[in-house]
Amino acid sequence: MKNIPVIMIIFGGSGDLAHRKLYPSLFNLYEQGLIHDNFAVIGTARRPWSHEYLREQVSDAIHETHDQVDENEVKAFASHFYYQSHDVTNVEHYVTLKKLAQELDDRYSAQGNRLFYMAMAPRFFGTIATHINDQHLTGSGFNRIVVEKPFGHDLASAEQLNKEITASFDENDIFRIDHYLGKEMIQNIMPMRFTNPLIKNIWSGEYIKNIQITLAERLGVEARGGYYDTSGALRDMVQNHIFQIITLLAMPEPKDLSSDSVHQAKQELLKSLIIPTPEEVKKNFVRGQYLGSDTTFAYKKEPNVDPDSTTETYVAGKAKFTSGPIAGVPIYFRTGKEFKEKKTRIDIVLKHINNPYGQAHSNNITIEVDPESKIYITVNGKKIDEPGIRREDLTYVFSKEEMAKVPDGYERLLHDVFVNDSTNFTHWSELKRYWEFIDAVEDAWQKENEAGNSEIAQYLPYRMGPKEADNIFESPTEHWIYE
Ligand code: BG6
Repeated sequence: MKNIPVIMIIFGGSGDLAHRKLYPSLFNLYEQGLIHDNFAVIGTARRPWSHEYLREQVSDAIHETHDQVDENEVKAFASHFYYQSHDVTNVEHYVTLKKLAQELDDRYSAQGNRLFYMAMAPRFFGTIATHINDQHLTGSGFNRIVVEKPFGHDLASAEQLNKEITASFDENDIFRIDHYLGKEMIQNIMPMRFTNPLIKNIWSGEYIKNIQITLAERLGVEARGGYYDTSGALRDMVQNHIFQIITLLAMPEPKDLSSDSVHQAKQELLKSLIIPTPEEVKKNFVRGQYLGSDTTFAYKKEPNVDPDSTTETYVAGKAKFTSGPIAGVPIYFRTGKEFKEKKTRIDIVLKHINNPYGQAHSNNITIEVDPESKIYITVNGKKIDEPGIRREDLTYVFSKEEMAKVPDGYERLLHDVFVNDSTNFTHWSELKRYWEFIDAVEDAWQKENEAGNSEIAQYLPYRMGPKEADNIFESPTEHWIYE
């Protein structure tokens, strides 16, 4: 078992993310002996909480996420937590925070190691990073920083934020978190692609007709209207999660599994990402907004949303590369709020082959990420007692027992941060390229809005999104596999 001495400082310690994800995940790591004894966590936020109150919150967060816990363990774990009321714009507060971190470092023999976690409103990330630098909050051991999304609002603001963070942290010590990279089935893409001759050998434009990625959500924007209306589906889901999935599907095989090699393979691919022109955006992208129903609000009527908003709650589009194993293969994606169901899936659609039976079903590979975790390949075989071809699925699925053992994405990714493995985090060069693509689409949309000819499809809630998305395919023989 590895014991990693560290003082962790969470900016946003009273927030929802800390409560729902970080505290329960840290507890799980603690229970497994992956962190113990030499660690302390300082939760900071503006509220005037006490150490004791934070510990109660931590204990509540664990009880809410675990059916059975050993109360002594919970108590021992919570005793490692400290609270510091903190205004992120106040210089004095950083001085106090630094003193507390130093005291705890001595008490817990944390060897000068510091882990900073930005878990609060993104508009404060730059300010915090600047103060960490100016007030010398870093320790004499390792210094790592975890940054939540969104990392910037466009390329220019992402570059500015990156500059502020790299003033104190090396690229290798910056962990830009994308929780999709912690998901079991997303982590399965590389082994599936690179260990199966059956799959690896058909991974090219010769056999793959197109790839389709769907990140559908049943929920609407809920209480996040204020944030969402400045973001939209393209920035909220495509810029990060969908592009990371695309990259894993299209990158060349890394020379080994080290973080450097994996990032290198991704970077090599991304150089050849085609950035769409305004005409291509018009042709290959669809944006939409959900309408209301008897029991739900239309997007424009949601709390904190501009009634004239042009922000999209749905987007479908296309990406393509000029190099890599699937150069030239169209990768279609779509994501939206208020779909008929929660469903995250990837369909790899293979080309038809000539055969003496005439018609056959398409032979596809599907990776289901959520809510189920499975991979299935649709295959053709003979019908039992009549002529013709029937379709069956070969399924690779996890048992309930196995699924119960799968750690939450956050637990996995936090562990990676502790052991300094940045494989499943977004490198700056990846993020930069994703923003270049997103900015091209956003700029084209912006110009359409200004010219008064924005085409925002209105779609009925709890169905499949706007029907206009059926028209983004390159050929009439293509269609969405998941309908
Ligand atoms: C987040 C987005 O990054 O991902 C949310 O900000 C979205 O809008 C969420 O609901 C979806 O994550 P998951 O894991 O539920 O698919």
